[in-house]
Amino acid sequence: MSRSEPGFPQLPLDTTLPRDWKTLTSGPEMPLVCLTDFQAYAQEHLSKSTWDFIEGGSDECFTRDDNIAAFKRIRLRPRYLRDVREVDTRTTVQGEEVTAPICIAPTGFHGLVWPDGEMSTARAAQAAGICYIISTYASCSLEDIVATAPRGLKWFQLYATSDRQLNKQLVQRAEALGFKALVITVDTPKMGNRRCDFRNQLDLQRNLLLKDLRSPKERHTTPYFQMSPIDSSFCWNDITWLQSQTRLRIILKGILTKEDAELAVKHNVHGIIVSNHGGRQLDDVPASIDALTEVVAAVKGKMEVYLDGGIRTGNDVLKALALGAKCVFLGRPILWGLAYKGEHGVEEVLNLIKNEFHTSMSLTGCRSVAEINQDLVQFSRL
Ligand code: FNR
Repeated sequence: MSRSEPGFPQLPLDTTLPRDWKTLTSGPEMPLVCLTDFQAYAQEHLSKSTWDFIEGGSDECFTRDDNIAAFKRIRLRPRYLRDVREVDTRTTVQGEEVTAPICIAPTGFHGLVWPDGEMSTARAAQAAGICYIISTYASCSLEDIVATAPRGLKWFQLYATSDRQLNKQLVQRAEALGFKALVITVDTPKMGNRRCDFRNQLDLQRNLLLKDLRSPKERHTTPYFQMSPIDSSFCWNDITWLQSQTRLRIILKGILTKEDAELAVKHNVHGIIVSNHGGRQLDDVPASIDALTEVVAAVKGKMEVYLDGGIRTGNDVLKALALGAKCVFLGRPILWGLAYKGEHGVEEVLNLIKNEFHTSMSLTGCRSVAEINQDLVQFSRL
């Protein structure tokens, strides 16, 4: 049946339709209204090997996919008849205020996605008033990132390399540049099996200039940096050693068990990011949201616990906070925003999920982040 045939249900020509709805139906200018719209855009516009690098998980991608599915196994228990005219999404991380408990996880090589890479991401994070964790594998130097967004809250993520001096230099550079915390990724004693990258023969080391790892002096002399391998022997004693080298607060990223969470408490670190690296390291580990409760219970309020992995909607943020996360971090969605429009694309992604989170709070009767608690969630028996 064609649109003009009698009997075809005609939409009334309603000039009162919401403006967004009309734009949504008008074809090429279709706005991006959820994070997965940005994902579709990025897939269409990035080269296959860059897309695969961003999107890929390890081995069979079971954990990558479960990160998303696990949020769908949790249902919300809204409370009504509360005055939600004023909803405040602000909170703090390590004592610093952020406009919402939604920040940026470390992801490497932003230069693959947008010309000035991490500099665009940092400006967007600063404009949004949230924290950005800059990766060891940034394609811009730490100095350039700080210069372009001097007021933004920044943490530095370290992959400990087998060159101790280099680790020390990097940490001390970050400290001198005003970074507020050091995030040590613990789930990567070696890289996971990223099958797509093997198939594409992706060689990041050969193709990318890792400006960040070179000291300012070296930058004048060596155009390329030979990446030192990740230190597979790095362990708890080395955390103690790093604590003696810096005054920065130390946060461990990638803890998934109560045993390691208890050791983190013993070693006096300041925070844990419950994470499985977006399903890119060990496959078949639990979804981050499924590991959160165990870690939160083990630390007994002695440090802040955060989460990354599979956050795609405001409801996901609410669920993570209800289960004890102080804040969540976004990985891939930031790269989708960057691929869309650089700095402005990242800003759009952040604004969108912040607005969704505001709606989630309003619709469940939460006026402040402090009011979000475990009574808001139930686990589906599906
Ligand atoms: C990452 N991740 C990561 N983690 C880290 O500690 N250092 C890094 O350099 C990177 N690099 C990186 C690159 C890319 C392309 C991705 C997708 C991920 C992991 C990241 O910090 C985070 O744990 C996950 O991305 C969170 O999952 P979602 O939000 O991508 O589902």
